[in-house]
Amino acid sequence: PPVALIGAPTDIGAGHRGASMGPEALRVAGLAQALRERGIDVVDRGNLSGPLNPWLPPVDGYRHLTEVTAWNRAVMTAVRAELGAGHLPVLLGGDHSLALGSITAVAGHCRERGRKLVVLWFDAHADFNTSTITPSGNVHGMPVACLCGYGPRELTELGGSSPAITPDRIRQIGIRSVDAGEKRLVRDAGLDIYDMRYIDEIGMRRTMEEALEGIDEDTHLHVSFDVDFLDPEIAPGVGTTIPGGPNYREAQLAMEMIADRRCLGSLDIVELNPAFDVRNRTAVLTVDLVESLFGKSTLMRD
Ligand code: ARG
Ligand code: MN
Ligand code: MN
Ligand code: MN
Repeated sequence: PPVALIGAPTDIGAGHRGASMGPEALRVAGLAQALRERGIDVVDRGNLSGPLNPWLPPVDGYRHLTEVTAWNRAVMTAVRAELGAGHLPVLLGGDHSLALGSITAVAGHCRERGRKLVVLWFDAHADFNTSTITPSGNVHGMPVACLCGYGPRELTELGGSSPAITPDRIRQIGIRSVDAGEKRLVRDAGLDIYDMRYIDEIGMRRTMEEALEGIDEDTHLHVSFDVDFLDPEIAPGVGTTIPGGPNYREAQLAMEMIADRRCLGSLDIVELNPAFDVRNRTAVLTVDLVESLFGKSTLMRD
């Protein structure tokens, strides 16, 4: 299907300013051209608009809840429209709180069409905090919990019904930073987590085989790609770096193995922060990985 790029230039849910520059950095790194070279139809919808970042401390465990909600409504509406038109929406973040709007739209679409949904969540973090256990109040640490129904009503009921998805729809890959209270919640919810220890022990290939298990032509696969999934040595342009992430080859393999399934239905690219980047190299690397996700390979394949 044709790809629709949707920019959401905000850092409203993050603990550092700068992810708001992510959409333009990805454009400058040549995202649209790279996809067009793959023979894909690409339309760039430009940027959504929303409230500025007031940069205030948390209130009742949330920073900027009103503004986060406004941005997520805009994202949800835009993603829903693209899916309805038969397009493949690519959300250019922006921080990871925006995955809430994006995945809420995708889940609603799958429910209407009777399609099975699987979310592959690439991240250093589980993003499964709530207002009572968050160490920061930053909502980008909470979207998975909100999607599963743990969170404030304005976020959990964004799409009308709550929860948007059940934890069994999500598979998380690359996790290496989970907060103390978050660990218990993740365990209780039964999230499917392929953490770095698991990847170290069995390798990226078997990890991805397991994460992709049961995915077939009837599956809508949503990839939520937090750039801090990558090792900071190769991807310095993020606000929340955690050492010990996948290297270039491991990340490429993960993307290539997804491409082989040919069922990618939607994508978030989030947490790219040009204020921390070096000559836009993290954006360039991300574009390179997205090419692989859309089927680029060294040799001809069918
Ligand atoms: N766990 C930390 C927190 O909740 C960091 C979350 C980072 N999330 C992200 N999408 N980068 O504050
Ligand atoms: Mn994240
Ligand atoms: Mn992260
Ligand atoms: Mn590539």
